[in-house]
Amino acid sequence: MEKEQALQKIINLSNQLNQHNYNYYALDKPTISDFEFDKLLEELITLENQFPEFISPNSPSQRVGGTITKEFKSVKHNYPMLSLGNSYSVEDMIDFDRKVFEGLQIQANDLFNTNQVQYVCELKFDGLSIGLTYINGELQQAVTRGDGVQGDDVTNNVKTIKSIPLKLQGNYPNVFEIRGEIFLSKHVFESINKEREQIGEVPLANPRNAASGTMKMQDSKVVAARKLDCFLYYLLGDGMPSQNHFENLKIATSWGFKTSQHSKLCHNINEVLDFISYWDVHRHDLPFEIDGIVIKVNDYQQQKQLGFTAKSPRWAIAYKFKAEQVSTQLLSISYQVGRTGAITPVANLQPVQLAGTLVKRASLHNADIIEKLDIRINDFVFVEKGGEIIPKIIGVDFTKRKRENIKTNYITNCPECNTELVRKNGEANHYCPNENGCATQIKGKIEHFVSRKAMNIDSLGGETISQLVDAKLIKNIANIYDLKKEQLLSLDRMAQKSVQNLIDGIEQSKQVNFERVLYAIGIRHVGETTAKKIAKNVKTIDALIALNKEQLLEIDEVGETIALSIIAFFNTPQNQQIIQQLKTAGLQFSLSPEALAKTGTKLNGLTFVISGVFNNYSRDQLKELIELNGGKNVGSISAKTSYVLAGDNMGPEKLKKAQSLGVKIISETDFETLIA
Ligand code: IVH
Repeated sequence: MEKEQALQKIINLSNQLNQHNYNYYALDKPTISDFEFDKLLEELITLENQFPEFISPNSPSQRVGGTITKEFKSVKHNYPMLSLGNSYSVEDMIDFDRKVFEGLQIQANDLFNTNQVQYVCELKFDGLSIGLTYINGELQQAVTRGDGVQGDDVTNNVKTIKSIPLKLQGNYPNVFEIRGEIFLSKHVFESINKEREQIGEVPLANPRNAASGTMKMQDSKVVAARKLDCFLYYLLGDGMPSQNHFENLKIATSWGFKTSQHSKLCHNINEVLDFISYWDVHRHDLPFEIDGIVIKVNDYQQQKQLGFTAKSPRWAIAYKFKAEQVSTQLLSISYQVGRTGAITPVANLQPVQLAGTLVKRASLHNADIIEKLDIRINDFVFVEKGGEIIPKIIGVDFTKRKRENIKTNYITNCPECNTELVRKNGEANHYCPNENGCATQIKGKIEHFVSRKAMNIDSLGGETISQLVDAKLIKNIANIYDLKKEQLLSLDRMAQKSVQNLIDGIEQSKQVNFERVLYAIGIRHVGETTAKKIAKNVKTIDALIALNKEQLLEIDEVGETIALSIIAFFNTPQNQQIIQQLKTAGLQFSLSPEALAKTGTKLNGLTFVISGVFNNYSRDQLKELIELNGGKNVGSISAKTSYVLAGDNMGPEKLKKAQSLGVKIISETDFETLIA
């Protein structure tokens, strides 16, 4: 294809994809199927790979992520990011209305005083605030709130959020900022927690923490997988099309932004109060969390007249919902053992209706929380559902405490295997150290081992695992490979056919690649993505076992916690034995020849920063080549950077920095020589 023709096609495909993205994410009205969308995207990526000089930083292809930001640059806000004053009652709201009228020097007659001041009522989304700057219709920069004066530049991560437009349509101002809230839907939050539990990590407390944790991740590919979303609610800058907030936000929707369909223009404070009462009840039906309502004076002139206090605007206020609270009785405390041995105390409650659900249990988290609450069996406790999806016990109703309620003593031994529990320095949870002897841990580990993303032995279900462990036919993941037909036939509800399926499934799992085997063996903190990165880097399990902490830290995605966990895992004699048995069984403990063919060690220990556009490779291809050859990609240049791989149009700032730090700048051809 001719260059000119390719460019036209790239522009055309990008426009189509932007439009479909907008229809899907901002309007919730898709006009093509996911399959058709993916085909268009694939076509664009193929063309961009052929003509990398035409990749724009805001191309729809950039949404898949892949950039690594080692350190987020601190950026000063163009307009300080203020917060809002809080109110909690009808009286507070009436007081706010009065102050607005006073500030504007308007005589207020009564609550139905219409149209002198219009208020916009919006949902108060519970996530993290973000400021997006657009120049000539293109997303230029995304900055977190930080301390309100300066925040972190998280542009690369934000680009992966599909509801945030990278390129605008229509008649927008040349330069402006739009602010909004990045959040995770309740549904996505739940699935993240399920995944965390699978890799033995403590679940995240609420969607807000999960969203802000995600935004700080270094690998934007991981961010892309997290399915964050964003509502925009505040425009800043000159040359806005209208003189009021409500109209402008409506127009901003036509530029491509996702704004809330639930915002309402109210003509007096009474309408505002109605809006608040409605959402106080119906907020539980929303697919995302809100923690209140934001009320804003609509007219810009009036906003200006009212101005700001040192901390917040006088023209807006947040009404915070009271977290719903009920009192119920604590019936008992049970202690759950996770697959990594972590103990979680759970409160069993007299079932009670709260915020639309029947609550029977609540997590008590750890021994410290129990101590702090001084919670005792038969106590009446206050249960709350605030920002958290999981109900929380916030205190004991001491007025109802009976003398006979005795102080709770945290268990000292594992409820499953009776081994004495341990608590490591600095950790909140107690652990059962009997990793390879505690039936619950064994079952959990085996369930993880056979799960779909690990060894994928789906013919081995939870119930069969339980029977096998209870019958002492298997004690660890390696024993699966010693199972005999006759043993399986002796189990309840195991007929010839299911036994054969199981035997076949076990046999097939021996072909599962090293990356997944590494995930399956259940090293604490080593999830699917980390396992992949490690496998590609070390190539064989023996090489991994031989690495010390410093060497492990050199691997992308491996931090202190993961490194120590890997070392502890391979230092345990039982684990060494299990690995040996699995090797004998014939599992894959090194990269396949095909995967290996793509790797090398030429760049071991070297770090690269990629900048500019290249003739023969896309930036993603270069990143992959670096990793496959043992090198590491970083986002910003430091004295530790080995090379800056520079293409055309490398940013002048980067150039200056590389030169001042004496970091070598190499071209695409130099790089090819390096890995040849
Ligand atoms: S307007 C100057 N509107 O609440 C006013 N904020 O406590 C700027 N928030 O930092 C904020 N939903 O992170 C506004 N519809 C909404 C909001 C909203 C959530 C957050 C925002 C802000 C905090 C204030």
